[in-house]
Amino acid sequence: MTQVIRTVAELRPLVRAWKATGDLVGVVPTMGALHEGHLSLARRGKAECARVITTIFVNPKQFNNPDDLKKYPRTEEADVALLASVGVDVVFIPQPDEVYPEGFITTVSVGGVSEPLEGRMRPGHFDGVATVVTKLFGMTMADQGYFGQKDWQQLQVVLRLVRDLNLPITIVGCETIREADGLAMSSRNVRLTPQGRAVAGVLYSALTAAAQDIRAGHADRMAIREAAEKVRAAGFERVEYIELRDAETLMPSDDVRRPRRMLAAAWLDGVRLIDNIPV
Ligand code: PAF
Repeated sequence: MTQVIRTVAELRPLVRAWKATGDLVGVVPTMGALHEGHLSLARRGKAECARVITTIFVNPKQFNNPDDLKKYPRTEEADVALLASVGVDVVFIPQPDEVYPEGFITTVSVGGVSEPLEGRMRPGHFDGVATVVTKLFGMTMADQGYFGQKDWQQLQVVLRLVRDLNLPITIVGCETIREADGLAMSSRNVRLTPQGRAVAGVLYSALTAAAQDIRAGHADRMAIREAAEKVRAAGFERVEYIELRDAETLMPSDDVRRPRRMLAAAWLDGVRLIDNIPV
């Protein structure tokens, strides 16, 4: 049975009891408004761990735009029902003052990998993510943490954080779940108009074509320029970036011997969509 727990004081004894019997504990951190992408993380957690906790917390510290925070969809009841349907053991839904009590002054800041791309476009975002993720790992005492590759840079930030701080948790990066037209699933997709939704898959198809061209020997710059043109021509208002980067450090890379990743952010219908693929 799925339990909803809202305080660390209630969560801790339960997790300690699980661990006392040798159970491996997985955590899937989310901000709610769940879709198939989140559920796939929970299912993977269930396949690998005896117990799975999904956290739902819309973290104010990672929103650099107050309007985005206000508009962020909140669908707690439906989320809990979905998580129960995949057999999650606990849904942990703390209030903001449970996570950031009066007087909270600590920030976890990961250098390097958190600075370019999303870090440059959304100042303070990754400090907010790193701080809350560190707290959620401490609160849940989980052994394994499940994150989607859709937020590739976030995944690299979390991997770095865990390595640098010797946190006793293993991070599992899971494949992006896509709609039939290739659009990466995201809680923000519901804000697209029907017209926007009809063309949103072009972001993925343009990235895929560019990656194929680069692998076939075309110049990186040219392939990226063509991808940006396709995205604009489809009706996106703005392409914030399409970049080819070292998959781990997120620094510019033309070293074909190391894994590289093409990452993009673009605006459609006033909604900021991000995506990335291996090259
Ligand atoms: O990816 C998200 O939903 C959030 O950034 C996370 C990891 C739950 C932290 O608030």
